[in-house]
Amino acid sequence: MALAVAAERVAAEFEYSKEDVNRGVQAFIQQMDEGLGKKGATMSQIPTYVTAVPNGTEKGLYMAVDLGGTNFRVCSIQLHGNSTFSLTQSKVAIPKDLMVAKTSHELFSFLAKQIELFLKVHHEEHYQSHVERRASYVGFGTMRDENIFSLGFTFSFPVQQYGINKGTLIRWTKGFDIADTIGKDVCALLQKEIDALGLPVRVAALVNDTVGTLMARSYTSPGKQGTLLGGIFGTGTNGAYVEKLDKITKLKNQSADAGEIDDSTGEMIVNTEWGSFDNHMSVLPDTSYDRGLDAGSVNPGIQMFEKRVSGMFLGEILRRALIDLMNDPSVPLFSDDDSSRNDISSTTTVASDSPLYKQWGLDTSFLSITSGDSSYGLKATRQALNSDYGVSAASAEDAEAARLIAGAIGKRAARLSAVAIAAVVITTKSLESSAPDGVVDIGVDGSLVEFYPNFEEYIREALRDVPQIGPHGEKRIRIGIAKDGSGVGAALIALVADKKMKGTHETTRSTSFGGFMASFFGGLNRTIRYRA
Ligand code: BGC
Repeated sequence: MALAVAAERVAAEFEYSKEDVNRGVQAFIQQMDEGLGKKGATMSQIPTYVTAVPNGTEKGLYMAVDLGGTNFRVCSIQLHGNSTFSLTQSKVAIPKDLMVAKTSHELFSFLAKQIELFLKVHHEEHYQSHVERRASYVGFGTMRDENIFSLGFTFSFPVQQYGINKGTLIRWTKGFDIADTIGKDVCALLQKEIDALGLPVRVAALVNDTVGTLMARSYTSPGKQGTLLGGIFGTGTNGAYVEKLDKITKLKNQSADAGEIDDSTGEMIVNTEWGSFDNHMSVLPDTSYDRGLDAGSVNPGIQMFEKRVSGMFLGEILRRALIDLMNDPSVPLFSDDDSSRNDISSTTTVASDSPLYKQWGLDTSFLSITSGDSSYGLKATRQALNSDYGVSAASAEDAEAARLIAGAIGKRAARLSAVAIAAVVITTKSLESSAPDGVVDIGVDGSLVEFYPNFEEYIREALRDVPQIGPHGEKRIRIGIAKDGSGVGAALIALVADKKMKGTHETTRSTSFGGFMASFFGGLNRTIRYRA
């Protein structure tokens, strides 16, 4: 079979039609509702107890760390109080063996060590003076230190939150698998390792990256309306949005250990955990490559939406599709049998140790490279195949085949992302409740939206396919990158937590997370306006 025909056949398997999009949106809305009503639904719809968003006037120096994918980031953030901030950060790849370590200690002590390194490099004076004070401290009990950094911990996995800095891990995602951590309070795990190193840091707040993104977007782009949704389209995918309190009916049956709820804004940010939309596969598209990927993953049957949308998985889907074609003797992919090749001077070979033969061997960045490759003869694609994947002398036809399939996988991911966005916009009635030409604001972050060519345009195309949104509604949806959103968002919530602690010290008033968030934001900030 000619290579181009075979590639088109595979690409067609990833088509996700207008009808599919609309079926997806209906199911998404239904599964969101189900999650608001009960625990244990496919979409967790986790109440965050955050009942308002910032307005840009917040100030102070905070630390934030971000664990959620391939990298661990440590940063310090100076909030200037005028919607701007300065950020210093360091980033380190998380060693693969720590992602599947035997004990939580192995991972969390590594994280604490990175915080120590960061402090030594970027806040040396602060760090040294703390070390000296500790050395000269002769009192009893915990040393009081006014210079302790408050740290917001962005932990981007499904967590049942019980308070501003307390929450237990429900399940790992994105390739992490440390059984010992499930059900444990991740803030306590981190604090323990920070204390073991004697660092001047208090884990003040626990934040999902989507909530951080929503907060950060609201901080940096205050306008008449607040931000509706914070979405991550990166290694993983997820969204947090502003929901009406009375729709979160499961809060009525909450257990005694759940945080107290403030109802003054009538709203709360909900972490959807949409990566697990439709785990039972009622509407999600399914190819043999998706099935193979799922079966070979550490969590088969879970995060089924994420496995079709996010950066951790798209490369692996493409790798499986390419391997299938390479194994088909009638298809001349990366082989010299292609009679249409006119350059017979070089031999196409795939190295026996090529990453293409290894699970997760193909990085999603390859999809971005090839989809954005407009060079003559797809030179950039062939170069990447050669230098990163051990495919020497790939022909233009080879590169075109890889590009075609990669494009189809990326486009399906973007159209699925639109399903999530459309569902949130429709179920919150946001288009109806803002002025006829008003804007619905969405903050996004992650390598896919940032780097995958035309990702947003594909999302928009699919949004226009949904009748409740249509071309007019699509134009009113403003999608903005909230760069470093999770760090800034975590800092903002650490700021809130700090005030809470000081408030508690000064007045011995004990305030709930929700209550405090509301009293803090209620005083300083606009309320979020999405009411019908
Ligand atoms: C996690 C979410 C997170 C998302 C994006 C998912 O795998 O379950 O909590 O927000 O990845 O990082």
